[in-house]
Amino acid sequence: MVQEKEKENENVDPNASYEQYAPGNFLIRLRNNETIRFYPYNQYLLLAKQLTDLLYTQPELKVSFPNIFHDPALPVVMEIGCFMGYTVLELAGRNPDLNILGVDIKYKRVVKSCHKIKRAGLRNAAIAIGDARELLTVIPDRSLYGILAFFPDPWRRQKHEKHRFLNDHFFETLSNKLTAGGFIWVKTDSKPYVDEITERVKKYDFIITEGLSLDRGRPLIGEDHRTFFEQLFTEMQQPIYQLFIRKKDAL
Ligand SMILES: C[S@@+](CC[C@H](N)C(=O)[O-])C[C@H]1O[C@@H](n2cnc3c(N)ncnc32)[C@H](O)[C@@H]1O
Repeated sequence: MVQEKEKENENVDPNASYEQYAPGNFLIRLRNNETIRFYPYNQYLLLAKQLTDLLYTQPELKVSFPNIFHDPALPVVMEIGCFMGYTVLELAGRNPDLNILGVDIKYKRVVKSCHKIKRAGLRNAAIAIGDARELLTVIPDRSLYGILAFFPDPWRRQKHEKHRFLNDHFFETLSNKLTAGGFIWVKTDSKPYVDEITERVKKYDFIITEGLSLDRGRPLIGEDHRTFFEQLFTEMQQPIYQLFIRKKDAL
């Protein structure tokens, strides 16, 4: 453990800028065959480099979306903060008529997600690494059917407010990125976050609904499926809040 930490520090450039360390950036540079003098010791970064058919960086997404999927004509649902891919697997397995794009900022999490997709032989799922806000900028307008944000980090302290991604800018972006009929489904354990989002939704082209009632005639996720964090909070008997949000032009 100590050795690993030392190795990690050896490879960190103390003068590196934030951009160099931004989520996904080392992978972009490795895949571009750039010579990198310093990079963090992370076995998953090297595994990520190999997963070219499943794991996309922001520039790759920009060039290839939606052709990253076997059938690019299917509607796309993006799960932000897909963690180790448990829910991506459930979504893609249950909904062969949708393409599922899981997004996360951590190498270990995206690699584990890709391995699960590979093992299950799913052809309607892919993963992107990076900050969801940055990745959304390269997705063409009106090309996402849905966004799932399950237990996004609530960044409870006021001084960390800027890190909460379900902010004004996010809703502005999504009103362009979602197709007609598009939806956002949020789950969280944070009541203040729910209240904040509820207020925000009113300012944009969205409306809060009772459920999703999608035209496809079946729920996106099985009733017994819990996300990893949902399971943790349920075990701790913490309340869980959900928001179903639809684009107004869909109604
Ligand atoms: C609290 S966990 C929830 C994981 C999963 N959705 C669940 O419900 O079990 C939040 C996840 O979001 C990821 N994350 C945090 N900020 C992100 C961002 N800006 N863009 C993409 N993913 C992010 C984290 O790495 C982490 O996997």
